[in-house]
Amino acid sequence: MSHHPAPASAKVTIPQLLRWASEGRRLVMTTAYDAFSAKLADPVVDITLVGDSVGNVLLGFDNTLPVTMAMMLHHVEAVARTQPRSLLVADMPYLSFHLGKEDTLRNAGAFIRAGAAAVKLEGGPKRLDMVHALVDAEIPVMGHLGLTPQSVHMMGGFKVQGRDAEHAIQILEDAHKLQAAGCFALVLEGIPSDLAQRVTETLRIPTIGIGAGPHCSGQVLVLHDLLGLIQGHKPKFVRVYADGYGTLQSALQHWSQDVRDGAFPNADESYTLAEAVRSQVAQWQPGNSNLAGPGGP
Ligand code: KIV
Repeated sequence: MSHHPAPASAKVTIPQLLRWASEGRRLVMTTAYDAFSAKLADPVVDITLVGDSVGNVLLGFDNTLPVTMAMMLHHVEAVARTQPRSLLVADMPYLSFHLGKEDTLRNAGAFIRAGAAAVKLEGGPKRLDMVHALVDAEIPVMGHLGLTPQSVHMMGGFKVQGRDAEHAIQILEDAHKLQAAGCFALVLEGIPSDLAQRVTETLRIPTIGIGAGPHCSGQVLVLHDLLGLIQGHKPKFVRVYADGYGTLQSALQHWSQDVRDGAFPNADESYTLAEAVRSQVAQWQPGNSNLAGPGGP
């Protein structure tokens, strides 16, 4: 098969993202866990992330730790079937990149074979060997520093990271190590915005912030958060752009009432029999079938 130059409207690539970031164009990323949300978001984002946040957003877990490769593959495949134009990034779940290079490569390779263009993994220096191995195997890696939800127990909760000098410098150094190891971009989550700014201005690769202030090269929010589809506690860094939950719930209530009132469905929402069939159906009585049909008279 020959490889032709891609048309202008083709898929977003990593070189394209790096070019945009170097030109000062802010990158936009959101999450999608299924074909529906992928189709909804794809026209307006540069990067679609199948995040392991699927665990708490959709699957009812308290955090992302129970999410497995099998669960993630199920969601990556669903999103990949929509053939998104945006760069499709698959999140490596807890323990899928901790047990050795071979295991990490096999897991990341499964995402690439499912249609992802890159993987994201959480953590700093402890994960550098894995980042090297993935990049050596031609698998692009997005790093993730700061509040890394898979470290919830080590962090003692979901807390802003890098507030004191020691930890702030640690994050700066880790960011540069991940860049040197070959990461093409970094998610910075839950860190002070002035620290995110320093990371961003000292790196060559773009940073994508979530709860990391306005100075990153791009921003990511969980789709369900920004559409107001999650009830309960809303972190300070989330801006809610729609009352998704309220709108959907009132639509469901309306429909439920219509069913109870006999107002749904109406004639326009129903199918009818042809006249000749209707009269036969009207004459039919239980136990008295005289209709010709398969195996009938
Ligand atoms: O899993 C996820 O959704 C994420 C983003 C919040 C960056 O990692």
